[in-house]
Amino acid sequence: AQKVTMRYLQLKFARKEPITMVTAYDYPSAVHVDQAGIDMCLVGDSAGMVVHGYNTTLPVTMTEMLSHCKAVKRGASKCFLVGDLPFGSYEQAPHQAVESAVSLVKEGGMDAIKLEGGNASRITAVKAIHDAGIAVIGHIGLTPQSIGILGGFRPQGLTSEGAMKLLEQALLLEAAGCFAIVLECVPSAVGAAITSSLQIPTIGIGAGPFCSGQVLVYHDLLGMMHPQHTKVAPKFCKQFAKVGDVIQEGLAKYRAEVSSGAFPCHAYTPYRINPGQTDLFL
Ligand code: KIV
Ligand code: NA
Repeated sequence: AQKVTMRYLQLKFARKEPITMVTAYDYPSAVHVDQAGIDMCLVGDSAGMVVHGYNTTLPVTMTEMLSHCKAVKRGASKCFLVGDLPFGSYEQAPHQAVESAVSLVKEGGMDAIKLEGGNASRITAVKAIHDAGIAVIGHIGLTPQSIGILGGFRPQGLTSEGAMKLLEQALLLEAAGCFAIVLECVPSAVGAAITSSLQIPTIGIGAGPFCSGQVLVYHDLLGMMHPQHTKVAPKFCKQFAKVGDVIQEGLAKYRAEVSSGAFPCHAYTPYRINPGQTDLFL
């Protein structure tokens, strides 16, 4: 298969074929997502939560994002690569947003960037980044970087006022130059209404089946966490595998075999001193 381009994504959208997107944060996850034939790979700031163990995405830095982007770039050769602008890297002024976006593309090797929110200053930032020649994805609904004013990780657009505000933001983001918009945690009717009002694809996460595509976090969809772990995947996330169980099983077997002396057995002890050289050691 060939590298996924913006043109290919637009073609899929025009044919009403669902666009697939999954997050990745490092070389192995990027290889997996790429090999699976997923259209778009998002180097999400969700890295802060699923990779670094923070409770929010707020502490994630540009330095960390660049490190994740570079690792993903080395593992993914076909996916269209999108890097998240982390909290604090684009809110102050359009030139700050452009500088951060440029480094995710230039140093991080991303094909596009994503930023959260749809207020006036975000619209200005999107315009400035787009003017700099960088493809931008918007992200509205539950925007984890603004939990401070959303009042926590909660669904958005539940009232008609809330839904109308999201639709307005979506239209402004489209006009500002976004080539797609992520809709997170909104009722499926809101996802449907926004999708049918736009000329660009919507990528839903907890936003129902009527979006132009879907995105999920790698660790959540694969069931990477141990079932006894407190950090569980969100309600909308289907676990397509139980990789955490497989990992725990493998580690438990290794521990048992080393403890009992069963590993390493003869088969895994490949090196022998050359004949006639035993005097070196004995
Ligand atoms: O960081 C992330 O993983 C995201 C997706 C949930 C859209 O922004
Ligand atoms: Na994100």
